[in-house]
Amino acid sequence: MSELWESTYRSKQAMERSWTQEVPRESLELIDRVTLRPDDPIIDIGGGASVLAEVLVSRAFGDITVLDISPSAIAESRDRIEAISGVRSGVEWIVADVTTFIPTRSYALWHDRAVFHFLVDPRDQERYVQCAAGAVAEGGSLIIATFSPDGPEMCSGLPVRRWSSDELATRFATSFDAVEHFQRDHRTPWGATQSFTWMLMRRRESRVRQ
Ligand SMILES: C[S@@+](CC[C@H](N)C(=O)[O-])C[C@H]1O[C@@H](n2cnc3c(N)ncnc32)[C@H](O)[C@@H]1O
Repeated sequence: MSELWESTYRSKQAMERSWTQEVPRESLELIDRVTLRPDDPIIDIGGGASVLAEVLVSRAFGDITVLDISPSAIAESRDRIEAISGVRSGVEWIVADVTTFIPTRSYALWHDRAVFHFLVDPRDQERYVQCAAGAVAEGGSLIIATFSPDGPEMCSGLPVRRWSSDELATRFATSFDAVEHFQRDHRTPWGATQSFTWMLMRRRESRVRQ
């Protein structure tokens, strides 16, 4: 799996990748719904070469982590950010598979655009949910975007599991409450349309305090 993503990032320029966005509009729309302090930890799961991290740096967020399975994607994003803001961008870079990732700290916000839908095996989906539940602080937020039921059936030659907002809410219900959702079309760099389900969820408190 990691080889496929690695060869995709090595062989395709940004404008040849279907998921490229010049402005991470929907991510920012949902991030703006969350109350975050500048030093709150944020993790972008499968952030790839997305511009989200640099937009967050420019908004003065100082504790950003980007995780991706592809070292080339991480290098592309890191080189771009360091060229703009220098090595003091404060971004932490992790090359890892989210289904085996063991977080060592907790995050106020977990963001995932177009990664969870590649987990077609329910066991991988469950590992992901458990990982997110362990990584997101109680009361923290999770933003997820997947292909919607009328979205593409494949991406980068891989099959995907398409999700409605109700299905996502049920999948994450053991630890997260749905807060808000919408469906939005993404236009690929060559003008095709892909329908996405976007959701904001909140990490439930695990214990009732007395
Ligand atoms: C469709 S791209 C989306 C990239 C980015 N989130 C964006 O919005 O531009 C999917 C990304 O997920 C990464 N990825 C795929 N499977 C992964 C996994 N199991 N663990 C971590 N990253 C993964 C890929 O390397 C790729 O960067």
